[in-house]
Amino acid sequence: MAEASILGIETSCDETAAAVVRSGERLLSNVVSSQIATHQPYGGVVPELASREHLRAIVPVVRQALAEAGESYDSVDAIAVTQGPGLAGALLVGISYAKALAYALNKPLITVNHLEGHIHAVLLEEKQKVEPLGERERGASRTGARRRNHERSEGALRLQFPVLALVVSGGHTHLFLAREQEQGWQYKNIGRTRDDAAGEAYDKVAKLLGLGYPGGPVIDTLAKHGNPRAVKFGLTQIKHPNRGTAKAEQTAYDFSFSGIKTAVLRYVQLEDMSAAIKRRREALAGIAKPTLQDWLAHCDQKTLDLVASFQRTVVEDLVSKTLTAARECDARTLFVTGGVAANSALRQAFEDEGAKEGLPVYFPSRRLSTDNAAMIAAAAYPKFLAGDFAPAEFSAEASLAL
Ligand code: KG4
Ligand code: ZN
Repeated sequence: MAEASILGIETSCDETAAAVVRSGERLLSNVVSSQIATHQPYGGVVPELASREHLRAIVPVVRQALAEAGESYDSVDAIAVTQGPGLAGALLVGISYAKALAYALNKPLITVNHLEGHIHAVLLEEKQKVEPLGERERGASRTGARRRNHERSEGALRLQFPVLALVVSGGHTHLFLAREQEQGWQYKNIGRTRDDAAGEAYDKVAKLLGLGYPGGPVIDTLAKHGNPRAVKFGLTQIKHPNRGTAKAEQTAYDFSFSGIKTAVLRYVQLEDMSAAIKRRREALAGIAKPTLQDWLAHCDQKTLDLVASFQRTVVEDLVSKTLTAARECDARTLFVTGGVAANSALRQAFEDEGAKEGLPVYFPSRRLSTDNAAMIAAAAYPKFLAGDFAPAEFSAEASLAL
């Protein structure tokens, strides 16, 4: 099989990222420039600001990724870029730059679906763990390459198919059933959110409670200090689609997270929490990088209980629907990936429930759960082998399906 170093570029949302991955399984560098500070005052991503920040960051980020990998513009074998889904203006920055680079260097250009990228984040790390000795020694001699200290075993990664992949992030909550083909994987979308993505619910609830942006990491941390059974969110807050209806085939495992966000708002109004939230928002806005102690100092027990109950409800819903889908589709392996896969309660619940059912569950490391370009470079490798290169004319596709 042909070896190849692929430079990946990712600008679909609020991270400008570049990485070099060798043959879909050796992470040589992974640079992510976050725009969190830019979007924080607005409590969410502002598309125009995202594009501007990508323009500012793209050249130095790519340069750093090449340098850390011990590669150069000339030495990489191909360039891969996210085509969608994502913010059109943000995607265009990465695409324009990747096109210019590929043209100037006369290198093949490969387009990657961001969601397939998240799935490949899992594969990349699992393949690294079983990397054969010869390749390990060759790779180790490359200068400047950053290595992860993985536990390794001999032999190739053997996955049982079909693989069920839950991609759960700020923009997506999708279930894909994946089967192996000669070149790459074939995906069937068997579930998706009908409204908000799970990460979006975390971000909106955090904004509502004056906890800052992004909401996932702070709610993850604070939930450990609250009672997850204090507030009961009924089934109506997380709508269960009508299984067994005419459209059931496509939508049997759909999610919905807008109801729980409204339920949190109603609870806040009912319990008269608005004045305390305003004080917290103002106090935390004055702290550049709030620590756990800062957050705890500005949260009463009622808020911590609310946050813990919200998280329990979301996690239980994600886990129960995903495992039902796994059972009914006879999935042999489960992948959980995307920004929300960094959540500690979600990981624990999937590990526990997966073990009960004898279903192997794989997550990316937290670093590769959230947006990055290593996953884009890894997903491009099967396309590189198949000679599946981008046409001269292509553009960003904000709603690109997998
Ligand atoms: O995959 P990602 O970086 O970007 C998208 O493709 O959307 O995901 C970002 C999302 C945000 O909504 C963020 O709040 C959420 O992932 N997130 C988390 C955690 N870390 C990030 N959600 C829950 N728990 C976390 N620890
Ligand atoms: Zn993502």
